[in-house]
Amino acid sequence: MTNVMTLGQFIIERQAEFPYAKGELSRLLRDIGIAAKIVNREVNKAGLVDILGEAGTMNVQGEAVKKLDVYANEQFISALKSGGECCLIASEENEDVIQIDGEVSRNARYVVAIDPLDGSSNIDVNVAVGTIFSIYRRKTESGPCTKIDVLQKGTEQVAAGYIIYGSSTMLVYTTGHGVNGFTLDPSIGEFCFSHPNMVFPKTGKMYSLNEGNYVHFPEGVKKYLKYCQAEDKETNRPYTSRYIGSMVADIHRNMIKGGIFIYPTTASSPKGKLRLVYECNPLAFIVEQAGGRATNGFKRIMDLQVNEVHQRTPIFIGSEEMVKKAEEFMKEFSPELKEVLEAVEA
Ligand code: AHG
Ligand code: MN
Ligand code: MN
Repeated sequence: MTNVMTLGQFIIERQAEFPYAKGELSRLLRDIGIAAKIVNREVNKAGLVDILGEAGTMNVQGEAVKKLDVYANEQFISALKSGGECCLIASEENEDVIQIDGEVSRNARYVVAIDPLDGSSNIDVNVAVGTIFSIYRRKTESGPCTKIDVLQKGTEQVAAGYIIYGSSTMLVYTTGHGVNGFTLDPSIGEFCFSHPNMVFPKTGKMYSLNEGNYVHFPEGVKKYLKYCQAEDKETNRPYTSRYIGSMVADIHRNMIKGGIFIYPTTASSPKGKLRLVYECNPLAFIVEQAGGRATNGFKRIMDLQVNEVHQRTPIFIGSEEMVKKAEEFMKEFSPELKEVLEAVEA
């Protein structure tokens, strides 16, 4: 028997690190891990289902073929509902928050924000996709949870993680004591401890952003991009461009190799495109815990005021030195954006 530690064993071993160690958060993470395995199974056969399905609407069993992001959403919601530790879910796929107030969840104290399937435009082409989640302690003392319970700053997160369904499937999470990664071993159906104490390199060579939006970028981003592309032996430039279009996969790669991911404001998304609650805050928590940095170009992501579940923000996230350099360019060439972004928070 080889010496592998499963996610379940690891969670139990580290239970004492959890802020309110009563086993509830452990169970919540376990529930998310179970749903992730089910989603992984469907992601793996997504192409097959499409081939067997009729006109993309019915499969061979005569069941409706659901879009994978809707399917993933249902799996996570159902796992969290039946797990009994979660009283409210905010999901990218649901306009309103989902209250869980059934018998099993009567004493639930946690709130989960989730992007069930990130990078969904990549499913059809067999490119990595992900899931992002964030866990908060409820704010209200009693009664059913409400939207207020999820409108908390990123600094209030008690745990956050992502799953990347890639060439191998990994679950990476933090509870504020560093970042650990687990790789799914399909032969035993378990996430196995594979990446202890993940550390974001202080600097790197990769920049990830959708350069197709160049003409609509703020001046600070345009100038930073030219800086990345300019030759300079001392700082190892020009850098390399890598953009998958699945934020989870782009950030996961940068965490291993070193790099920066930027999704700035653009003309069509003047407040940014990516969502603060279930995309940016959880990834910012993980990246900071690994020694990286995450800001909106001017202010730390996790300090931003949260007013709406589906609030958007620009994001500069990754290797500390690279993010700081990009911020210098924003300060110098796009200072007017600072006020615009402060107004979103107000
Ligand atoms: P989602 O699939 O959850 O809507 O998220 C997609 C996001 C993110 O993963 C990715 O980085 C970005 O959108 C890609 O956007 P562009 O196609 O505009 O580059
Ligand atoms: Mn997403
Ligand atoms: Mn999504």
